[in-house]
Amino acid sequence: PVDERVADLLRRMTLDEKIGQMTQIALVKLQGDCGETGGGELNERCMAAVLRDRAVGSVLSGGGSGPPVNTPRDWARMVGAVQRYAVEHSRLGVPVLYGVDAVHGHNNVLGATVLPHQIGLAATWDPELVRACAETTARAVAATGADWAFAPVSDLARDRRWGRYYETFGEDPLLAGTLAAAAVRGTENAGSTDTAGGAKNVAATVKHFAGYSEPSNGHDRVPADVSPRYLQDTLLAPYRAAVEAGAKTVMVNSSALNGVPVTASRHLLTTVLREQWGFTGVTVSDWQDVRALWTTYKVAADYPHAAALAVNAGVDMAMEPYEAGEFADALRTAVRAGLVPGRRIDEAAGRVLRLKFTLGLFERPYVDAERANTEVLGAGRELARRAAGASQVLLRNDKGVLPFGPSVKKIVVTGPHADDLAAQAGGWTVGWQGLPDGVRIPGTTVLEGIRQAAPKGTRVVHAPAPADAVAQGRDADATVVVVGERPGAEGGADSPRPELPADQRELVRSLKETGRPVVVVVLAGRPLVLGDADGTEGLLMSWLPGGEGGHAVADVLFGAAGPSGRLPVSWPRRTGNEPLYYQQLPGTNAGAESGHDVAYDFGDGLSYTAYRVESLALDAPSVPAGADVGMTVRVHDTGPRDGEMIIPVYVSRPVGDVLSPPRRLVAFTKVRLKAGEARSVRLTVPSKVLAVTPGDIDGAGPPRVEPGPYVFRAGARTAALEITQGAGEGARPRGK
Ligand code: IFM
Repeated sequence: PVDERVADLLRRMTLDEKIGQMTQIALVKLQGDCGETGGGELNERCMAAVLRDRAVGSVLSGGGSGPPVNTPRDWARMVGAVQRYAVEHSRLGVPVLYGVDAVHGHNNVLGATVLPHQIGLAATWDPELVRACAETTARAVAATGADWAFAPVSDLARDRRWGRYYETFGEDPLLAGTLAAAAVRGTENAGSTDTAGGAKNVAATVKHFAGYSEPSNGHDRVPADVSPRYLQDTLLAPYRAAVEAGAKTVMVNSSALNGVPVTASRHLLTTVLREQWGFTGVTVSDWQDVRALWTTYKVAADYPHAAALAVNAGVDMAMEPYEAGEFADALRTAVRAGLVPGRRIDEAAGRVLRLKFTLGLFERPYVDAERANTEVLGAGRELARRAAGASQVLLRNDKGVLPFGPSVKKIVVTGPHADDLAAQAGGWTVGWQGLPDGVRIPGTTVLEGIRQAAPKGTRVVHAPAPADAVAQGRDADATVVVVGERPGAEGGADSPRPELPADQRELVRSLKETGRPVVVVVLAGRPLVLGDADGTEGLLMSWLPGGEGGHAVADVLFGAAGPSGRLPVSWPRRTGNEPLYYQQLPGTNAGAESGHDVAYDFGDGLSYTAYRVESLALDAPSVPAGADVGMTVRVHDTGPRDGEMIIPVYVSRPVGDVLSPPRRLVAFTKVRLKAGEARSVRLTVPSKVLAVTPGDIDGAGPPRVEPGPYVFRAGARTAALEITQGAGEGARPRGK
């Protein structure tokens, strides 16, 4: 019946109304003076121009845009008013799709729970936790009347200079793809309840398809040039996993890949995405990118040719094509000139309408503004704390400085981020480039968290000024110094030297000189080169843990929680080693100089307990052609505490005619073990994960599983076991 309803509407629509469905306009164009930057109250005149006269089908609140008063209730009222206007004033009464940048909680909304950013969630290696976070976010989105979250990001974190690094699930295609798929499931199955008691669903977005994270000089939106094999085996994998999880929409990479602006790439948007992967949802361009084919990329002589290029390539909806009328005129001209077939317009508009029907928008376009507050505010605080806790990665714990024991009577807390919720929250938090001055989010800073967690009899001294911190540190049992970087977003967070700022390094160095134990806590969206600030007794990577980050850090410092996070990225020793990732291919100067010179490796992270991988047994003596590889791994918590152990399985090939990295993640799981407990867990490596693209430089032939032998390794650096398995060859333990 949905198909019939779509066909019925399409039959009754004019060309302009269909183009309206293909248009997404920024909220600001409906507010104040209908201009680019104004904001303010909704303006009837602006709404009439956009929603009635142009029959625009979608509205977005990008980072930092919303109603003038930004509470959940105001959001619900405003989205409701936009929706009511569209339903009551567009000729056919079609509701709008309302999209928001809800990437770590419903983060534009004042008072909403701020969850950790994706990079921190990646450190949990926990798809179920990621699913739950996405579900909580989607419920908040639905409660405010919106229907579409522009998340998750499926791009990879391989170049720390790129400021959107923290928005990813890390550098590894399997980890990132598995977590992105979990986020899609969490978002789309959220099914929050509206006033009518029915489910209001939210669409997820796989973004930014494809290759957005590889700007050749590290600057956001600079073109990328990558080999066909790297594109197929590495970059596309996480988008594919998220698409196969059922994502209803895909957002297009704003940049150019291999010499083609992706907004104009028929190969990626149609051949790969639809024909090879079977995607049936809506593709939306990024901000003003259809127009950019003409104005920036100059691959089109005018706007009609730009619109034709994008739509023929496979773009179904143009995000903020600058001005609704301008885009409509351009696309209408293109259709009339025969540059775009009418059936392609029907296809694109039909996909948008189908999404609206699937989300239940025609039946339930409105939500109850009064309920929005209670459903959004405070929801997920406990989950946010759990997620932030699971994302903590302990990288140094010399002389067992952590967790702080009863002998720790005086703790000095210092560093620029010790009492700074904005630094914890990162970009896309109320403001696009981060929390605006004077705005508070619900939450607890690291300082407050430490104060609350410190046992009776332990004095916590906050010393914000470096000189005071050093003076106080001289007779302290420990100093916690909270360092990091300032938040930012698109372009605003790019950095040619992603390292700890000089004044922060100096502070840590001076504290080291006191001779007393120093624990460095890093609040940042990427590994920062620490230089001589490395080598303190304790080092805890806390990422951008969100509002509950202060509790999460304190839980680890005092041992209420054992750290279980593991690095989802490589942490370089020196500045300039970009891009950096553990799957670096071999080269004759490989190794420390040109290769993988890391201070802390992908997968690293310490615990308060100890683990051993006791055995690794493969189901079959050789890699079965076309079949998955099953295995059993036996793990043992040999330490003094319960804990959570992440078990990665890596594969390498001693020899093979396809150049391959020294190790490649092919499976992982997380086990909760009691002190002393041993358990066997099953893992499976799908044959498509094992497959690689064969052939010469120009070749992007279909991936296939190359003949063995393969070396499988289970466990982290400190607790790994290897076995070699080859075609016809028996499994041979080579345990460490
Ligand atoms: O969703 C974002 C995207 O990630 C970057 N450009 C703007 C979009 C909408 O705000």
